[in-house]
Amino acid sequence: MKIFNGEGIGPLKINYKNKCDGVFLLKKIPNRAIKAVFFDPQYRGVLDKLKYGNEGKLRGKLRSALPQMDEIIIHKFLLEINRVLVPSGYLFLWVDKFHLVEGIQKWFKNIPSLSAVDMITWNKLRIGMGYRTRRKSEYCIVIQKRPQIAKNTWKRHDIPDVWEERVVKNHTHAKPIELQKNLILAVTEENDFVVDPAAGGYSVLRATQDTKRNFIGGDIEYGEDIV
Ligand SMILES: C[S@@+](CC[C@H](N)C(=O)[O-])C[C@H]1O[C@@H](n2cnc3c(N)ncnc32)[C@H](O)[C@@H]1O
Repeated sequence: MKIFNGEGIGPLKINYKNKCDGVFLLKKIPNRAIKAVFFDPQYRGVLDKLKYGNEGKLRGKLRSALPQMDEIIIHKFLLEINRVLVPSGYLFLWVDKFHLVEGIQKWFKNIPSLSAVDMITWNKLRIGMGYRTRRKSEYCIVIQKRPQIAKNTWKRHDIPDVWEERVVKNHTHAKPIELQKNLILAVTEENDFVVDPAAGGYSVLRATQDTKRNFIGGDIEYGEDIV
């Protein structure tokens, strides 16, 4: 399917850091066009839970300075992601341990075609903060659109479900490029489009460049103006 004419669609450009709202970006993409979406929400819930939002500490300030997504906004993203995914397409959803334990089902209300089919624990190889244990990992939930089948949709069988990778941070929440490259190689072909509607430091853009895929993504705070 031809998704974009020339260099982009509307004001958006491909293989570009589009500074824009992620739901706006997703709405520009046709139905059932994309095999892989990465979504790393800037969720509000944990900050409320930990009462970081108004904390005076530098860490609290850094985190609460980023535009945040409440559950209604996350649900809007997921509705659009579901729409743009091909049947059996994949969503790689990054979460922390609070969401893992408490569940993300409410984000998927009325979206029965998306289900979790796997999960990868990312060992960051660096130790963070924590009121009790100290954080060292994050989680990538592998979600697939119906029909949920591995055969012919997932080509790599050498990806372990615990992944060790240290990142050089260009964004507070930068994600591991090598892992994301492997996931892209598992579920897409050369020149396919990979989407990241809340791209932060654009680790997924880097991963697509290294794997010869096309990137359509942006961030409300980071990137280049699109008009
Ligand atoms: C957790 S970070 C993403 C980090 C990214 N995965 C990386 O590897 O660098 C989430 C990003 O969502 C962005 N964001 C928040 N609300 C947004 C919205 N409505 N549309 C697009 N981006 C948004 C924030 O600016 C933040 O950079």
